[in-house]
Amino acid sequence: MDTTNEVKVQEEYIEKLRKRNEGKNLKYNILTMGCQLNENDSEKLCGMIEKIGYSKTDSVKEADIALFNTCCVRENAEDKLFGKLGELKRLKEEKGLIIAIGGCMMQEKHITDKIKESYPFVDILFGTHTLYKFPEDLYRATEEKRKIEDIIDVDGEIYEGLPIKRDSKIKASVTIMNGCNNFCTYCIVPYVRGRERSRSPRSIIEEVKHLAKEGYKEITLLGQNVNSYLKVEKEKNIYFSEYEGVNSFATLLRAINKIDGIERIRFVSPHPKDFTDDVIEAISDCEKVCKLIHLPLQSGNTKVLKEMNRKYSKEQYLDLVDKMKAKIPNVTLSTDIIVGFPGETDEEFEDTLDVVRKVKFEQVYMFIYSRRVGTPGDKMENQVPEEIKHKRFDKLKELVESEIEEKNKKYVGTIQKVLVEGESKNNISMLTGRTDSNKVVIFEGDKNLIGKMVMLKIVSEHMWYLRGELNG
Ligand code: 5AD
Ligand code: SF4
Repeated sequence: MDTTNEVKVQEEYIEKLRKRNEGKNLKYNILTMGCQLNENDSEKLCGMIEKIGYSKTDSVKEADIALFNTCCVRENAEDKLFGKLGELKRLKEEKGLIIAIGGCMMQEKHITDKIKESYPFVDILFGTHTLYKFPEDLYRATEEKRKIEDIIDVDGEIYEGLPIKRDSKIKASVTIMNGCNNFCTYCIVPYVRGRERSRSPRSIIEEVKHLAKEGYKEITLLGQNVNSYLKVEKEKNIYFSEYEGVNSFATLLRAINKIDGIERIRFVSPHPKDFTDDVIEAISDCEKVCKLIHLPLQSGNTKVLKEMNRKYSKEQYLDLVDKMKAKIPNVTLSTDIIVGFPGETDEEFEDTLDVVRKVKFEQVYMFIYSRRVGTPGDKMENQVPEEIKHKRFDKLKELVESEIEEKNKKYVGTIQKVLVEGESKNNISMLTGRTDSNKVVIFEGDKNLIGKMVMLKIVSEHMWYLRGELNG
């Protein structure tokens, strides 16, 4: 569907609000929870709100609007939101702070019900499919002085051309698809983000070309399932037009690889079941595509994987890793792992440890299974007691940390190509950047190196970063 008109309507609201806000020096504060897709959505929210005439503040006490972009993948985000809302009640009473909550959590009825009941002072609730309508929601909330609930439960469209305020001038995220059709049994995402739909090749390529012109060096392609880009469209005969030969994820990587000015391409997250040979070949062939592949494992046990509806076995995952290692020189891997999925036994958990030992990941994001209302996992009867989940988590963490330490040691003495991102946060006399494998390296250097690729000799390793020296 062509959404140009909807975007135009929002531009009109932006203009009306901008005029109303002129000279008022209004400020907004934003809290973003969750994944890189949410961060990218927040950049769009910031783009809209800054056009409306608000500038960003890190202190909610100074803000005229407090915005929350929520995540619901795990329970701890809920506790965080409710804690913050409790704190904001006073600011609402004292100075009429406008409070707007959006994102994934708002697609869950039990959460919006709780907000309406326990935090009735919240002004705007908006969901994942109505983010683009934020200017209109804000206009109505402030002009008509009423509570707005703008949440729909259908699959959203893709809205092109929204303003965007990016966090970095060097690295940019580009969403290539929305939604997920996989229904892993632990995961809430398909229920809150709807079915998979891909952006058109033309809009993605044009966005990346534009970013290259603006001086961006690194692009991260985002989606819940990036390597099934355009798969649903092909299966369901949904029309899309090819652009610069792009008709799949592999051809998208190849097309972006040709864009002058872009020096690095990353992507998250792919699904192992869709990791076809053409994608492996594209990664190997394209010199700008980083050789770090994030390949979510979730569990190393075939029975647990089946219960999770992941559609691959332990052996298939390991075979895929072997194939990548054979075909992609210098490949490195990172992963996501959940411990304590319902029914997981100690022996089954050992398989996860076994895969971690075999693959030797560069980075492991570890999660304790969190029950999500509405998912099949929540209804399973054999939930693992909290205490056992924590024990398994600690055991995995210990193994992962010892392996990372070992991996880090191997960097010492090597020369690494690093994209310099800025001053180090902890020590502003140092610069910070990342290797192809996404390791943070700090080093001494002139500030004019920011945004450039440099060759660094790694001189020492620390748990979460490496220390380097300019090489030559
Ligand atoms: N509990 C714990 N971790 C989860 N993830 C997704 N859903 C859950 C859940 N219910 C993890 C998965 C996914 C990552 C983004 O979050 O590992 O890859
Ligand atoms: Fe969730 Fe699985 Fe979809 Fe990832 S692939 S978003 S884990 S359902």
